[in-house]
Amino acid sequence: MKPGKLVTKAVIPAAGLGTRFLPATKAMPKEMLPVVDQPAIQYVVEEAVRAGLTDLLMITGRQKRALEDHFDREPNLERTLEDKGDLDHLEAVQHASDLGPLHFVRQGEPKGLGHAVLCARQHVGDEPFAVLLGDDLIDERDELLSTMIEVQSRTGGSVVALIEVEPAQISAYGCADVTAIDGENYVRVNGLVEKPSVADAPSNLAVIGRYVLHPAVFDILERTQPGRGGEIQLTDALQTLAMSDGEGGGVYGVVFEGRRYDTGDKLSYLKAVISLASERVEFGEELKSWLKAFIN
Ligand code: UTP
Repeated sequence: MKPGKLVTKAVIPAAGLGTRFLPATKAMPKEMLPVVDQPAIQYVVEEAVRAGLTDLLMITGRQKRALEDHFDREPNLERTLEDKGDLDHLEAVQHASDLGPLHFVRQGEPKGLGHAVLCARQHVGDEPFAVLLGDDLIDERDELLSTMIEVQSRTGGSVVALIEVEPAQISAYGCADVTAIDGENYVRVNGLVEKPSVADAPSNLAVIGRYVLHPAVFDILERTQPGRGGEIQLTDALQTLAMSDGEGGGVYGVVFEGRRYDTGDKLSYLKAVISLASERVEFGEELKSWLKAFIN
């Protein structure tokens, strides 16, 4: 495959157990948790559509119903809202089903993010593709995915998104060892390590939930043994790609300086909800004055 092949496909893994969010996630995927008034996953799907991706595949797990239903038409509800003249809610309900078409594939067992991505192999085929994690939100005013797509097409390799974190926080993330490239808006990734101890971390650059991958990753994932936590780690496959100079070899990083909201654990989720709610025209100012009074 030559550099420059168009990226049109997005893979959205949403089959994890969400253990950090139990018991809320006992019967509901964590990606369905509301962030203000829409589920986290809808922000992610909207971001993929904004970046021009037209073929969306969601990897779902044991509680797939809610995810599928959310992006499907709901004729009875739509009729009721229409009859009541509640056009704002009608529009909101229809918007979610207009984002598609979405495809779904099931990951029988949550064997890790690498395994979830491998479940997309048949759908993706031999093309570069984007991966957007369903619990990581990027502010719509900030650009990330389209820059990563452009870097993928220029390099012909795979691209990860990186943020700078406080050194003490790095053990919660995959961590990248990088080299800057003169005059470029991306870095070369020499190696990746999943959740290193602070002492072993090669940098304070953390991998976040956006990737644009060369399809060579699939063959590597097939051979990747369970790693940290007994899961097939995408980071381990990317480490192999970073060391490879064959077809599809090479991993690059785009350092993101914009706003990102993690919804995967309780505290980050609450921060995400408050940040996004306080920007809403309808009640943002009221919420901020309430927060000030509450803290005092
Ligand atoms: P996380 O590790 O954040 O999700 O995976 P998790 O496993 O659900 O979370 P905890 O640690 O148990 O609380 C990042 C993304 O990858 C998906 C998750 O749904 C999430 O969007 N994932 C993870 C899968 O689709 N399959 C897996 O086997 C693991």
